[in-house]
Amino acid sequence: MLSYQHIYHAGNLADVHKHAALAWVLDYLTRKNKPLSYIETHAGRGLYDLSAAEAVKTGEAKAGIGRLARTFASDHPYRRALDKVAQKYGPNAYAGSPLLAAELLRPMDNIHLAELHPQEHGALKATMQKAGGAQLYHQDGFEMAQSICPPEPRSGAAYTGTLL
Ligand SMILES: C[S@@+](CC[C@H](N)C(=O)[O-])C[C@H]1O[C@@H](n2cnc3c(N)ncnc32)[C@H](O)[C@@H]1O
Repeated sequence: MLSYQHIYHAGNLADVHKHAALAWVLDYLTRKNKPLSYIETHAGRGLYDLSAAEAVKTGEAKAGIGRLARTFASDHPYRRALDKVAQKYGPNAYAGSPLLAAELLRPMDNIHLAELHPQEHGALKATMQKAGGAQLYHQDGFEMAQSICPPEPRSGAAYTGTLL
């Protein structure tokens, strides 16, 4: 659905829930000293400004991450990634899942991200260039996932990153 703009909803309760679970999974998978593949079918732009008019308008981030960020223990992988992103990008910066993956994965891991919306894809490219790189696909995410499977390395995680 390309009329959808995640900036209106970034940081809401559902976003925090899925990101906290994703961070935990990626932290768990990286305990083994073996490279992995991370495949995300609906990436979004990766980095959101929660002081932007769109985010302020709905108030969803204020009610979500605004209330919950400090409830995660300081050693929870989601909190660690959020703290790093705030240090690097400022207090209103909010990590989407691609940036969380970039913070939690290692240089030996492969990140594959699909985003179909041209504007979001452009913004994602800028975010990931700054974050250390990823393989980006401007195509349907499910087609991308099918076309690269089995990935190299074979183990890892696939994430839709959206509510289907
Ligand atoms: C919920 S947002 C992404 C949020 C992001 N995964 C996160 O958690 O930070 C969903 C995104 O999927 C994109 N999208 C919609 N249909 C798509 C498709 N078939 N393939 C790839 N991206 C798609 C939209 O443009 C939108 O940016």
